[in-house]
Amino acid sequence: MLLAYTDQGTGPVVVLLHGFPLSRAMWDAQVHALSASHRVVAPDLRGHGESPAPDGTYTMDQMADDVAELLDGLGIVEPVVLGGLSMGGYVALAFALKHPNRLRGLILADTRAAADAPEAARLREETAQSVSREGRTATVVETMIPRLFARTTLQNRPGLVSAMQEVMERTSASGVIGALLGMARRPDRRDRLGEIIAPTLVVVGQEDVVSPPEEARAIAEALPNSQLAIIPHAGHLAPYEDPEAFNAVVLAFLKDVHPHA
Ligand code: MLT
Repeated sequence: MLLAYTDQGTGPVVVLLHGFPLSRAMWDAQVHALSASHRVVAPDLRGHGESPAPDGTYTMDQMADDVAELLDGLGIVEPVVLGGLSMGGYVALAFALKHPNRLRGLILADTRAAADAPEAARLREETAQSVSREGRTATVVETMIPRLFARTTLQNRPGLVSAMQEVMERTSASGVIGALLGMARRPDRRDRLGEIIAPTLVVVGQEDVVSPPEEARAIAEALPNSQLAIIPHAGHLAPYEDPEAFNAVVLAFLKDVHPHA
């Protein structure tokens, strides 16, 4: 699958994978800040942004292979630092386990290693069915918005919230269905975290209710080579809500991973 992508800057490669049902637009501030010292590649995952949205289930492994194919297409053979937020983190974990030799470092932002609980998986499958029946995604977007942001972001920064809402509204029904089914069926990765030897930054918004800090802490503890950072006053979209704090943590991590960049 040929993905749409942003490719900016020169230096060691950092790849950023967005959450559901977002697009690479959520990483604009990171692309800007990190590309001063790194080559930043930010794709639209299948079904999102400007990438194709085929029918069917988008497994996390398949989306990880799309990313590997993109790197091949760009001639990037050296190991990369791969970062993913939420669904992008599920894909990053799949990539880390499938393509460990291509990984220099990992950034797991506001994400989970566990599978969906049976009830949550059932709800996703039902939501996918209703999107398919109705051909519209508005309910999915409206239900998600209040859960994506910290309370103060929702109260005080409506422009920030509505800009991301617009990105979400542009995601097609087939994209939403494919990702929902893929996430519902994704495996539990917790027992495989010990295999990931690449240095890993686990980062989470303090007010993230989708993938809360306790879960990030458990992931960091299970990884052999990790550090944990908590972004205060930010929710599930911490990199977007507080890019300064998020970028500072990521740049410090990248300095450890690439001391000469
Ligand atoms: C995301 O931000 O990618 C989603 O909230 C992930 C999920 O629904 O599990």
